Amino acid sequence: MQIVRQLAPLRDALAEFRKAGLKIGLVPTMGALHAGHMRLVEVAKQQCDVVVVSIFVNPTQFGEGEDLDAYPRQETADATLLEAAGVELLWAPTADQIYPSGYATNVSVSGVSDGLCGAARPGHFDGVATVVAKLFNQTRPDAAFFGEKDFQQLAVIRRMARDLDFTHDIVGVPTVRDPDGLALSSRNAYLTGEQRANAVALPDAMREAAKAIAAGGEVAAILSDAKRRLLDSGFHKIDYLELRDANTLAVLDIFAQSARLFAAAHIGETRLIDNIPVS
Ligand code: PAF
Repeated sequence: MQIVRQLAPLRDALAEFRKAGLKIGLVPTMGALHAGHMRLVEVAKQQCDVVVVSIFVNPTQFGEGEDLDAYPRQETADATLLEAAGVELLWAPTADQIYPSGYATNVSVSGVSDGLCGAARPGHFDGVATVVAKLFNQTRPDAAFFGEKDFQQLAVIRRMARDLDFTHDIVGVPTVRDPDGLALSSRNAYLTGEQRANAVALPDAMREAAKAIAAGGEVAAILSDAKRRLLDSGFHKIDYLELRDANTLAVLDIFAQSARLFAAAHIGETRLIDNIPVS
């Protein structure tokens, strides 16, 4: 696996792949890779001839007081995993390759960025859209792969790609979960043993709420019960627990075929997010 940190050798390597007629898949990440990321790599390997994984902890998507400094950085371990998975190229740019001196451009996607994590983390999706647009331009892939765990992020990236005329495929990959149902996340590493045991209340409460909503129950009452259950199970703050349309992310008060349940809640110092279809 080639490890590349500068744009010129990245472009050379990608030009070789293109000259050979190979289909290039991109998996953008911030590192601290877990089985969820490796599933993205696996799907990319199935659908493309060569896979490029990027690792860049993007400062512009972290707000004040968020965990930028503490965010886990483990490039050597990540590279070992990627090599074993058959990834051809690791794009691990130095910061100036993404944000050169004097950098002054921002990509902002309105609509789908509003509400949910957009409300709790102002500026977050601008940072995501900006860095992903840059990664798309730098690598010009045939397809790019993102986890459905960050469903709103996926919606923002799809919108940005349509609006800015990126023509490659954007592939959403279903969330990978631990056997007890907790969605895999780099942030799960912050949980103490007790918090990890309690955290399962999140997927449990969501699953039961989704079932009750699909059965025709009253949405507001069901969501309120689920919130109470989370607060009784060790979560101390709920940013949101909402029913939304999976395509537009518009809020739903009643069940619809396209309904999806979205949640973000804090346990200890850690903010966990999840989303599931309601059907
Ligand atoms: O999902 C992530 O890891 C990041 O938000 C992404 C898409 C790599 C952009 O920094």
